[in-house]
Amino acid sequence: MPSAKLIASKSNGLQGRIRVPGDKSISHRALILGALATGSTRISGLLESEDVLATGRALQALGAGVERDGEQWCVFGRGVGGLTRAPGTLDFGNSGTGARLMMGILAGNDVTAAVTGDESLCRRPMGRVLTPLRKMGLNVDGEGDTLPLTLTGSTDLIPIVYELPVPSAQVKSAVLLAGLHAPGETSVIEDAPTRDHTERMLQFFGADVRSTGDGGRKTITVKGGGVLSGSDVTVPGDPSSAAFLVAAALMTEGSDVTIEGVLINPTRIGFYETLKEMGAALTFENERLEGGEPVADIRVSSSALKGVDVPAARAPTMIDEYPILAVVSAFAEGETRMQGLEELRVKESDRLASTLAGLVACGVEASATDDSLRVVGAPTIAGGAGIETHMDHRIAMAFLVLGLGSEKSVVIDNAPIIATSFPEFAGLMRGLGAKIEETG
Ligand code: S3P
Repeated sequence: MPSAKLIASKSNGLQGRIRVPGDKSISHRALILGALATGSTRISGLLESEDVLATGRALQALGAGVERDGEQWCVFGRGVGGLTRAPGTLDFGNSGTGARLMMGILAGNDVTAAVTGDESLCRRPMGRVLTPLRKMGLNVDGEGDTLPLTLTGSTDLIPIVYELPVPSAQVKSAVLLAGLHAPGETSVIEDAPTRDHTERMLQFFGADVRSTGDGGRKTITVKGGGVLSGSDVTVPGDPSSAAFLVAAALMTEGSDVTIEGVLINPTRIGFYETLKEMGAALTFENERLEGGEPVADIRVSSSALKGVDVPAARAPTMIDEYPILAVVSAFAEGETRMQGLEELRVKESDRLASTLAGLVACGVEASATDDSLRVVGAPTIAGGAGIETHMDHRIAMAFLVLGLGSEKSVVIDNAPIIATSFPEFAGLMRGLGAKIEETG
């Protein structure tokens, strides 16, 4: 049995040229669109994390073929509206993305399914997805807003125009996926650009989808009743996973790391823009398009950073990176203030609270309001703390990175949770020279 805890200790000279595993958001979508397509879809670089595998199992339970074939994954689609097998209970583990996107699919198919997840997922709000899906015709047992729930789809969905009340790509995607099953056009209006992988991939699979508007407010419209064609998808490296390695290289002395083939979609790189403003020696090299998404090799070396103000408008483009940005900020000179963080309260944990508690436990001066975080940087950080991860993979990884730069080691209480998004994390970090070990 691998140990449940990991300990990170002061490290320097991280060196190497590596790849991070495939992007989590794109991996979920590749499996899902593959299952809705006719014909087969071959996926290279699929992230084989607990979250993504749970989505694969759910699609199998609904009748799609999902199997590993050598280095690739192959999905044998059932066509839009063709998922008819009674799946019993679908367990999405820790995954909000899997659960919410799949609710959009369940809405448009003639199935009844019990949907559940782990303790963390069963605390998270589902009403944000269920409200528009109910309008379209999804039947939900009871009035509940949290899992477990039993959902019954319909082959008679109603198309809607839905204005997102929260900036959430998961909600946008669930409505668009349900819209594929409705006659006519379904539109989602967003005020701030959230990650656009669903739109991009729908187009790639041949759906009739269009986006109008400027960089800010956008309307995304999908036409139902069309056919998706099985396609070959290459999943680029996950910028949200690369963020931990980049942060570690910045904060440790004598480090120089290149991460190859990382997604640099503009809706995902707010963290990297912020690091550049902080003075990071960080460059995107060899920029190119792979499978319809922009990618680059990210080169980063040890840097003296300065605190900055991170505007609320940037939050959707770096929503998963605040815990690691908070850790980086602890080692910067001066204060970093992050605004617009209300969505952090409903992630795998209350991420604002977990991040603040971890920083304070490690001797960092920090404070929070309902929707903001302030971190005061210092030349040395005490560390020497045991961190409660609250079943949150990103809290686990962020505080292990803090332990690489602090005076005393940092222990996290739940190592297996890291496999939610980045099973290779500890091994890759060790390969670069980081001291991260199992502990009792
Ligand atoms: C995701 C969207 C984000 C993000 C999550 C993945 C997606 O959630 O936090 O890790 O793949 O659509 P919200 O859409 O709820 O902000």
